[in-house]
Amino acid sequence: MQTGKIFIIGIGPGASEYLTKKAIDTVKTSDYTIGSTRAIELFDDVQNKIAFNVKELLEKLNEGVQLACNGNTVSILSTGDPGFSGVLNTVLRISKEKEFPNENIEVIPGISSLQLAAAKCHIQWDNANVMTFHGRENIEDILPVINNGKTTIALPSRKVKDMAQFLLDHGVEENRKVVVCERLSYPDENIVEATLKDIAQSEFTYMCIMIIY
Ligand SMILES: C[S@@+](CC[C@H](N)C(=O)[O-])C[C@H]1O[C@@H](n2cnc3c(N)ncnc32)[C@H](O)[C@@H]1O
Repeated sequence: MQTGKIFIIGIGPGASEYLTKKAIDTVKTSDYTIGSTRAIELFDDVQNKIAFNVKELLEKLNEGVQLACNGNTVSILSTGDPGFSGVLNTVLRISKEKEFPNENIEVIPGISSLQLAAAKCHIQWDNANVMTFHGRENIEDILPVINNGKTTIALPSRKVKDMAQFLLDHGVEENRKVVVCERLSYPDENIVEATLKDIAQSEFTYMCIMIIY
């Protein structure tokens, strides 16, 4: 096997101003760059683009790892940071299956949407309950911590309103302060502060961070 290199690159929350120089330079010198269309469009200088939609994710990640097995340098783009509800574990699993050497994989961190939400709301997040329910059904894991006195910052599993309703159904006080950070860093960024009860009656896109105080 002629071994190449895989970079797993965090691209930040969405706006190009949050891309790191390291991400830009790495993509520039990679033979192939794989990512969502939105992610690839952030980079001006890309050699061979492999864009995918959500349904094609696994197929394209497999293709990317195979290209690296064949000797190419491959950049795989991940929203926010690859290690927080990102593609890191999936790429590591595929690489292991294909016996691609771990030492030829480099992770380039990005600014997570969760970090940007914390920054926007002036939250020292080392003292927060940091949780992700993205693509998972472990939503009840929030219940043991929701009243532990710390702020909870979460990537919702379902619609924000459903998550709020779940908390109400499980006895969380209806006037609890919630901030929803939607489409952070985009021109239509929307940050809403309301009570849990009001959030349970509000519509948001899937691209949200929910902060429960
Ligand atoms: C697959 S997860 C990726 C998380 C990513 N690895 C990170 O560190 O931000 C996608 C979820 O992240 C959150 N997210 C990603 N970008 C966001 C943004 N610009 N504004 C608000 N939430 C965002 C949303 O909850 C979205 O459903």
